[in-house]
Amino acid sequence: MKFNTVLTVFLIKIYVISSEYITRPCGQDLSNLWLDMVAVVDNSQGMTNDGLTAIAANIASVFSDGTKIGTNSNDPRTTRLGLVTYNSKATKNADLNKFQSIDDLYDNIFTDLATVSQTDDSNLENGLEVAEKVLEAGKNEKRKFYKKLILIYASTFNRNGEAISIANRLKSAGTKLVTVAYNQGGGDEQLADGLAQISSPRFNFTNNRALIGDIQMAMLEANCFCAPTWTQYRQYYSDQFSPPGGVCIQPVGLTAVWRAARISCANRFKNAYLADEFTQHKHDFIFDSIKNTNGFQLPYSYHIGLTLSNGSWSWDRPNGWEQPVVQHWFGWDSGFPISTSSKASGANFGNETDAGWQNIGAMNIGLNYVCETATCDTDNYCSTDQLD
Ligand SMILES: *[C@@H]1O[C@H](CO)[C@@H](O)[C@H](O)[C@H]1NC(C)=O
Ligand SMILES: *[C@@H]1O[C@H](CO)[C@@H](O)[C@H](O)[C@H]1NC(C)=O
Ligand SMILES: *[C@@H]1O[C@H](CO)[C@@H](O)[C@H](O)[C@H]1NC(C)=O
Repeated sequence: MKFNTVLTVFLIKIYVISSEYITRPCGQDLSNLWLDMVAVVDNSQGMTNDGLTAIAANIASVFSDGTKIGTNSNDPRTTRLGLVTYNSKATKNADLNKFQSIDDLYDNIFTDLATVSQTDDSNLENGLEVAEKVLEAGKNEKRKFYKKLILIYASTFNRNGEAISIANRLKSAGTKLVTVAYNQGGGDEQLADGLAQISSPRFNFTNNRALIGDIQMAMLEANCFCAPTWTQYRQYYSDQFSPPGGVCIQPVGLTAVWRAARISCANRFKNAYLADEFTQHKHDFIFDSIKNTNGFQLPYSYHIGLTLSNGSWSWDRPNGWEQPVVQHWFGWDSGFPISTSSKASGANFGNETDAGWQNIGAMNIGLNYVCETATCDTDNYCSTDQLD
């Protein structure tokens, strides 16, 4: 009975994978994480020695899923971790290059985070300032495009505004801030609310059972990004901080015929292709993007990856990749597709509120177009050459 259930679940999974396409999510492989990080830990009296050792264990656990620490690996997908502690003042315990393996991390972090300081004062602004210096001092041409993340553990939060302004400066420079409110029973009732003003959106956490997974999710998300000039697909076009997906799009406001547009996309980034619209959500996201791109005017018209391939409407992919057949959601205008081999590619035609698919000739109608590619993430390393 039990075996049967397991088998059925397994078969359903296989069936779903082979029959449905989904838009690529961000890579989820912690063993291939490539980030530069600094942990910033409050070690004022309020934290207590037990609290501090619990944080050391939490940090060590976050990196114990196979994440390659340091820069020794031949694989460029490695993560550097610096460590800063703070009370009334801040101390640099480890720069970005000190820990060169997970063993180094274990060997140092439990001693660095063993004993609280003599003071009750806890000034996060000092901790953030030193973390910023650690990131600056650790700059490395080879890791120029690696994303940066600061992981903050605090037991109290002094709301003098200074920490918030440093946090805003870091965030606007592209560094992600993750906060952990480590409330030691009593003390600071408003701690979590205060730290939510420091963290990047959705990255304010508290010490509960899900904490390790929460922090790992934030790291994977920070590692998932698009090259400059590309827009990351996300839950809400209107909110650039809403949960991201694993593809990037780039509308091009200069006309070309479909076949030339396809090559232009392929030349813009590794493994780029003409965009797909698996869902209404993606269709709407692309429509909102083109409306905000120079060179797109009413009435709108732009090529997407629709192509009549071997008798089936399919989506463009890089040469040599399988082209998924269109399924589930169809954006055809009524009367389309017109059945003729001379109209073997698809484009969107629209007004100010929406657009619909029509099939056209691939070699004789010049339109704007929209390109797509996978995000740079743990499953898709992007080199400095590609990103520069
Ligand atoms: C994070 O911040 C948001 C808004 O500031 C808040 O609604 C949410 O409860 C916070 N999460 C935690 C775990 O404190
Ligand atoms: C085209 O379709 C036929 C019949 O379904 C199939 O045998 C053939 O392998 C397909 N060719 C390509 C290139 O997909
Ligand atoms: C705008 O375009 C959509 C999709 O092609 C169509 O359904 C709708 O009727 C059009 N609206 C107007 C006001 O023309």
